[in-house]
Amino acid sequence: MTLGLATGSTPKGVYAELIKDHQENGTSYEKITTINLDEYIGLPPTDPNSYRHFMNSELFDHLDIQLENTHLPNGAAEDMSRECERYGQLIKDLVDIDLQLLGIGRNGHIGFNEPGTDFNSRTHVVHLAESTRKANARFFSSIEDVPAHALTMGIASILDSREIILLASGSAKAEAIRQLVNGEPDEQFPASALKLHPNVTIIADEEALSLVSQD
Ligand code: F6R
Repeated sequence: MTLGLATGSTPKGVYAELIKDHQENGTSYEKITTINLDEYIGLPPTDPNSYRHFMNSELFDHLDIQLENTHLPNGAAEDMSRECERYGQLIKDLVDIDLQLLGIGRNGHIGFNEPGTDFNSRTHVVHLAESTRKANARFFSSIEDVPAHALTMGIASILDSREIILLASGSAKAEAIRQLVNGEPDEQFPASALKLHPNVTIIADEEALSLVSQD
């Protein structure tokens, strides 16, 4: 089975529950393959702010998963276009993701697919929106330290997943969730691509759902 995973604050609770379940019930990840959405360019896997480091410390180090079966784009690769090709091919070789976990950016990004991303996109280099760098600056010593570029799985690959679960919590995500639930597919709002997928579940708290209209 292949799990598509996300980083950021949102999935931390899920990862804590997976670890608890592994420890208490012995659920095994020995045969699980994972593939992550994105990685900052310029941060080696050992950098505490790299998404590889996040995944190892928040999840993989606490499971019986085989690290060689866990995949993230390499933000320290020498040739980014070859790295995009490699990662795109890897996703194809895994023959689709069984379950993709997503968070959502305040501007509607999924992975690091910022507003305006082609819905047909595969793995590519993105210039991070200023608002995204600001939102993620909380993990760095200053906003200048937040990388300006990242590698991300494209929207087409996300849509190839068999099932998608999008998580959102807090009022900062309320406007994005309103647009996602009440709006139409629109490349200016990347998460709206999920409307084109037959099996998406949104799990959100009351604050994140506070602007969704019932009609
Ligand atoms: C991270 C990712 C991003 C985050 C989004 C929300 O791998 O794909 O799309 O899900 O930026 O981040 P948090 O959860 O920190 O609010």
